[in-house]
Amino acid sequence: SLRCYAKAPAKVILFGEHWVVHGGRAIASAIGIYSRVIAESLHEGIVVESRNLGVVEDISKRCRIFCNLKKAFEYIAGGDRVLWPASIVIDSEVPVGAGLGSSAAVAVSASAAYACVGGLSVSPDFISRAAYESEKVVHGTPSGVDNTVAAFGGFILYRRGDGFKPIHAGRLDDVVILVIDTGVSRSTASAVEFFAGRLRRLGSIGKEMLELAENIIDEALKAISSGDAVRLGELMDVAHGLLNAMGVSHVSLEKAVHVARANGALGAKLTGAGMGGSAIALVESSRADNVASSLRELGFRVYNGALGAAGLSVA
Ligand code: MEV
Repeated sequence: SLRCYAKAPAKVILFGEHWVVHGGRAIASAIGIYSRVIAESLHEGIVVESRNLGVVEDISKRCRIFCNLKKAFEYIAGGDRVLWPASIVIDSEVPVGAGLGSSAAVAVSASAAYACVGGLSVSPDFISRAAYESEKVVHGTPSGVDNTVAAFGGFILYRRGDGFKPIHAGRLDDVVILVIDTGVSRSTASAVEFFAGRLRRLGSIGKEMLELAENIIDEALKAISSGDAVRLGELMDVAHGLLNAMGVSHVSLEKAVHVARANGALGAKLTGAGMGGSAIALVESSRADNVASSLRELGFRVYNGALGAAGLSVA
């Protein structure tokens, strides 16, 4: 029987969250935290097992848990919807609900493994499109950044309506990103609404802040291209300051960025919607354990991954 292995990374938003809702650009990066999937051909059934969730479901007839993946598999099979039998075993190290795009990493790796046992294309573009069908089931109308980053890896620049552009990156391999999960649950919708309200009330000040956020993107693009981690860290601090001024930080995020910086991080900011959720810190690899443990002592969950990690791979 055929056997395929696929893995796909998590993502973080490095710059531009919220501003991207108002016409600005955003930069996302793959991080070296992976979902891994093994698919094998079967005689009947499409048996999906998540090692992390501890659940198994045959989605060949009806689905309850993995209907998102079924949509992706139907996209892969094409219009006639004849799915081939397979077993799909998911083993993901991407934490759920930390803003890392766990559902997209799983959808990309599972879709690629399923396509591979069916003898079909596993090109990042095709698999990203399939995973987007899964993401629509999970998230409604997502931007598509999570599945794009999981499929292509590296750094990606995006603006609503403009699609995604890969960013050519210099060497950034002696730094890592720490993802600091505050454990404070937040609603993305209410954070987006609060930000939008303040931006409108600020009038010309808001316009200038959006321009500043765009300048930060230009400078961050240069820093990524030249592999200047010190500059990148400093820009993260400034980007956080703007988001804080817009009212989407939280006391737990302020504590996280403060402690990360005080322990030697090159920079730190909230990532994603804010008002809770996660912060990220850019840290020299040699200091990563130190910074992470000082944050863990305060009760934060901390994950660590390489920046600009490779995208989907299939074997
Ligand atoms: C949330 O992860 C990112 C936001 O910019 C919202 C969005 O882009 O849809 C806050």
